[in-house]
Amino acid sequence: MDTKKTESKYLMQTYSRYDLVVKRAKGQFVWDEKNKKYLDFFSGISVCNLGHCNPVVNAAIKKQVDSFVHVSNRYYAKVQAELAESLMKKSFPDGKVFLSNSGAEANECAIKIAKKWGIDNPSKEGEKRIEIISFENSFHGRTLATLSATGQKKFHESFRPLPEKFVFAKFNDIDSVKKLINSKTAAILVEIVQGEGGIQIADKNFIKGLRELCDKHNLLLIFDEIQCGMGRTGKLFAWQNLGVKPDVFTLAKALANGLPIGATVANKKTSEVLLSGDHGSTFGGNPVSCAAAVSVLKLMTPKLLKDVSEKAKYFVKGLNGLKKEYKMIKSVRNMGLLIGVELDLPGKDIVEFCMNKGLLINCTQGNVLRFLPSFVITKKDIDFTIKILGEAFKWQMLKK
Ligand SMILES: Cc1ncc(COP(=O)(O)O)c(C=O)c1O
Repeated sequence: MDTKKTESKYLMQTYSRYDLVVKRAKGQFVWDEKNKKYLDFFSGISVCNLGHCNPVVNAAIKKQVDSFVHVSNRYYAKVQAELAESLMKKSFPDGKVFLSNSGAEANECAIKIAKKWGIDNPSKEGEKRIEIISFENSFHGRTLATLSATGQKKFHESFRPLPEKFVFAKFNDIDSVKKLINSKTAAILVEIVQGEGGIQIADKNFIKGLRELCDKHNLLLIFDEIQCGMGRTGKLFAWQNLGVKPDVFTLAKALANGLPIGATVANKKTSEVLLSGDHGSTFGGNPVSCAAAVSVLKLMTPKLLKDVSEKAKYFVKGLNGLKKEYKMIKSVRNMGLLIGVELDLPGKDIVEFCMNKGLLINCTQGNVLRFLPSFVITKKDIDFTIKILGEAFKWQMLKK
């Protein structure tokens, strides 16, 4: 079968794809149909954080598949309870989690918590609080509510009217948040690192300021950790770097290292906002995904997280070396292994150059090269990446 031809005939053409048909993947590597090997520094957009086909995760998946794949959420499944216990013990031991299937779904649930909470806790004037403050440049998903919460107008245009009501403050600008707070505000939704927004990193004081505003005005603070969570920043959850606790945070992508899952983690205050009948999902908390996630959490040891920080330091040092050499690099930004290199020109050709040389990377916002390697990469892999990038920048410079 000609995969590309068949997919373009029968699949809705919603993705602009790179010219690569994946045949298999293992660890930090991917092979195409012609058996060409690629070093994967994209990891399915920060999904396969523990490497492709991680043996421990795959063993847990296989064991669960042979036991049972699905039961209705009207029955109990031990593996769901195990995952919930493990997640909550690592975050809010007196809170609760809702399990879904994707990042957008995890955020939908967080938005529903914020809305119901704002309605149940009206303002002093008796007004229902239904407004959520989000941020310019943010990304929260493709369902209608999460699209509406996303602070990039290009995603909105074809889908109006959008669900109400999201208002947008400037990222890292606490005064712009203050200006938007009114008697209808229920919550603030923020990414600690705006991944799709071009690896924009929140200042510690900004996030602290958001917590203070939420405490002062009785608002919920919601962190979207779908891209930056699950060890990528060198802590299991990105907020653990900042010493600021949210009321709710969302996880997905890397939680089950490649199987679909979403988690909306609520602290004690918000853990009983959604009650029987308020929310649900046929596939939510699928036993196979849960089994994978339980093993992922076991593998996220302090040693592994320390390694993430060390590998990140080594990689960023190499990138800063390239920055000194090539003027086209405007800045290198990172929080752990969530890394962006901003260029003064479009990054598309560089991504393609790297792919031809056997390195998979991505570009966001048109000019920010994005690196999301798995945690199993070695120094040798980083050296290879720096070498290929150097060749790419040189080629780009001579082309100009
Ligand atoms: C920060 C953030 N939130 C939400 C989402 C949506 O997740 P999903 O594609 O699993 O629905 C993404 C996906 O890239 C994301 O990066």
